[in-house]
Amino acid sequence: MRMYDIIMKKRNGGTLAEEELRFAVNGYVTGKIPDYQISALLMAVWFQGMNDTETAVLTDAMAKSGDMVDLSPIEGVKVDKHSTGGVGDKTTLVVAPLAAACGVKVAKMSGRGLGHTGGTVDKLESIPGLRTAFGQQEFFDIVNRTGICVAGQSGNLAPADKKLYALRDVTATVDSIPLIASSIMSKKLAAGSDCILLDVKTGSGAFMKSLEDSIALAEKMVAIGEHAGRKTAALITNMDIPLGNYIGNSLEVIEAAETLKGKGPEDLTEVCLSLAANMLYLAGRGSMGECMAQVQAALRDGSALEKLVEMAEAQGGDGSVIRDTSLFPRAPYEYQVRASCEGWITRMDTEAVGISSALLGAGRTAKEDSVDYSAGIILKKKTGDYVREGEALAVLLASEKTLFGESEKVFMGALEFSGQKPEREPLIFARVE
Ligand code: URA
Repeated sequence: MRMYDIIMKKRNGGTLAEEELRFAVNGYVTGKIPDYQISALLMAVWFQGMNDTETAVLTDAMAKSGDMVDLSPIEGVKVDKHSTGGVGDKTTLVVAPLAAACGVKVAKMSGRGLGHTGGTVDKLESIPGLRTAFGQQEFFDIVNRTGICVAGQSGNLAPADKKLYALRDVTATVDSIPLIASSIMSKKLAAGSDCILLDVKTGSGAFMKSLEDSIALAEKMVAIGEHAGRKTAALITNMDIPLGNYIGNSLEVIEAAETLKGKGPEDLTEVCLSLAANMLYLAGRGSMGECMAQVQAALRDGSALEKLVEMAEAQGGDGSVIRDTSLFPRAPYEYQVRASCEGWITRMDTEAVGISSALLGAGRTAKEDSVDYSAGIILKKKTGDYVREGEALAVLLASEKTLFGESEKVFMGALEFSGQKPEREPLIFARVE
């Protein structure tokens, strides 16, 4: 078999056979096939797409390129949840304890932030002392004891994805539905949970900017999960506006903790309750209505908040900062962004808002960068709000005053104003199963 022929077949719109896809993935991981040939294949896929069988085989080959985690030492039904990434998306910090408080097991691996999106591992590590790196036995023990553990991704989980993603990042081939679907699902399948709930973000802060593409991505991922014998569903949720009001690492932990105390913003609370109810539903915990009632009760009675504290402490962290979020170190400098005109905010370019937060130190532009846990943005106004000239739109937080100028410029460039109140968009557009 020759890589040249595989590239040409896909370039000309052909369907790749299972052995051709496995040959390409395995050859790339073992270093026998060079970057330039895989780059050409990725570009051919970008233009020609892949059918469901090709995508499922590619995913399976990527998942099996490293460890396939066996979660059977953990008792009970294991449910995973994955977000395709967004701005202010702290849902895992709320949803995982909600689901675990209701009795399903959450043995989850999460990633770090890159570019305009944040990552759960960075957010969790803003809790003093908290660890996200565990040996397998310790990970199993924590989940068996507490029902929940959110760890960083182990080094040998889907190594093919790691290599392919790095190549896609520099060859303009990230935004391809079969490539995103296989990338995400290879890690989810390798991570071993019985059920997978996908939170597919749509809008200006998401990878998929249009609802149509988001639904197509969700359908592909659900098909891959079901084909692999995992119960899989997806919610398509709004990322045309940041979720909640806090953006940044410790800032998002603070907002998540307040949400678990019943004092969170409405949008975040509603999306989190729906995600958690869907996790329970996948785990067979009753009808959707019954699952929603269970998660609402876990929010109301404080058991989900206690679960987050228990998880933080089991992972070596200081749980007292969750109970009293004023104990989190506050960034030394703050800057108020004020409106220079009057009117309704009709649009927020959410990717730009995420970049504005990253510029304050909350995010990284290269994988090896460190993040400033206390940096970020507190939004005072969002799409649909009316503002008067001079009114505060947001508070920027950083460790150096010099970071405010560029960040404010990007933030202001993200906003559009008008004399007309915009229509309110739904928070959840669709459910795919
Ligand atoms: N997240 C991933 O893990 N992979 C992609 O391709 C895009 C988002």
